[in-house]
Amino acid sequence: MEKYLINGGKPLQGEVEISGAKNAAVAIIPAAIMVKGVCRLENLPQISDTDTLLRVLTYMGAVVRTINRSTVEIDCTNVQIDRLPADMWALTRRIRASYYLIGAMLGRFGAARSTMPGGCNFGVRPIDQHIKGLTALGADVNVSGGFIRAAAKSGRLHGARIYLDKVSVGATVNIMIAAATAEGRTVIENVAREPHIVDLANFLNSMGADVRGAGTDVIKIRGVKELHGGTYALIPDQIEAGTYMAAVAAAGGEIRVSNVIPKHLDCISSKLREMNVQIEDGDDYVIVKREGPLRHTNIKTMPYPGFPTDMQPQISAVLCCADGVSIVTEGVWDNRYKYVDELRKMGAQVQVQDRVALIQGVPHLTGATVKACDLRAGAAIVIAGLAAEGATYVEDIRFIERGYQNIVGKLQALGADIQCVDVPDEPEELRDDWIAG
Ligand code: EPU
Repeated sequence: MEKYLINGGKPLQGEVEISGAKNAAVAIIPAAIMVKGVCRLENLPQISDTDTLLRVLTYMGAVVRTINRSTVEIDCTNVQIDRLPADMWALTRRIRASYYLIGAMLGRFGAARSTMPGGCNFGVRPIDQHIKGLTALGADVNVSGGFIRAAAKSGRLHGARIYLDKVSVGATVNIMIAAATAEGRTVIENVAREPHIVDLANFLNSMGADVRGAGTDVIKIRGVKELHGGTYALIPDQIEAGTYMAAVAAAGGEIRVSNVIPKHLDCISSKLREMNVQIEDGDDYVIVKREGPLRHTNIKTMPYPGFPTDMQPQISAVLCCADGVSIVTEGVWDNRYKYVDELRKMGAQVQVQDRVALIQGVPHLTGATVKACDLRAGAAIVIAGLAAEGATYVEDIRFIERGYQNIVGKLQALGADIQCVDVPDEPEELRDDWIAG
């Protein structure tokens, strides 16, 4: 099995270039289904989630052409939804963003079908707000046998006024995509304001849609008849940038994080500064430096512009090495602390009660064999490995590769001692998670 082997304790130095935003890409690729023509997407991250979605579109009849490492052209002129193979559903089950196929198919064809989404397991992940929004736009939606099926009652969706009971990135994306070609005006209130919501609106507008207000809590959409092709460059990934900032905070050193929008990082930078990390903002880069001891702090995750839940595991890994006691409160997901058991194997002292983690910093973490239980949990374990004394083996790296482009190469370029190794699994009775009976 492939694992990462990290020999920790080495400060990071140099420059890392951030890739395009994963959560923008996984919304924009399905949205391309709405476009009759060629969408050229630039700054697309090369990660397994985008690869999976591009393969899904190919099964639907899209022509996908790779121009270079970060640019693809997608031509959805001839996509169809009637004869979709079982192999395609095996792919849609793997990822969360497959539910955006519903909004896009409905907007283009007035009918849709997809599997219930996969993705990271943080406890219950309901889709009631997606269903509420699509129903308000005139669709009949039902879920059975592991599939979501939807059909516009009058053949085409119509505009509506929709209030989201919960701020949801996914529901905001799905409703925006579907409403872009609905008849009339849609107003969505209490929407998510994440940078990738603005990016999706900008993508749709550059393909001929009329979406206003993205980035505020009300989005207004005037439906257009159809979308046309065009070129669009995705924003840089806020969370990937935050992860490298957390890595240098934990391991020490000084790095330049380039191809970022520093404003998107404010919520992360301000917490790192409280922890005694120096951060200097440039136009499209930040310089992050940590020399002295890390200070404890308290963090609560919230929808944007609050501290992102997708940075909670990584920042908690850093706080494991800080002086004093920190309190981390997870404000978005019910169960996002599964990685704590892995950090404990490395000597971290963390107690979790419901959505609150109490972290008592320790002078040193120590290397161990640990698992990535999901994407950001995996990033947290890598960060802990970079700070730890000795060798850390990270297993289940496929989760990390869902969302981080070339993480090993990027960390190596910063001077980290990390490599991907193919080592046989330990016999079961020697594994520390082996339980007799
Ligand atoms: N929720 C509902 N009903 C719904 C939808 C959501 O109650 O219909 C609740 C959820 O249970 C959760 C909260 O609303 O408590 C927020 O969920 P949201 O819909 O915003 O999450 P998501 O769209 O499923 C996206 C990202 C996640 C990120 C969250 C929050 C994608 C593909 N995923 O998920 O990213 O944690 O927003 O920012 O965009 C990651 O990148 O590691 C990741 C998990």
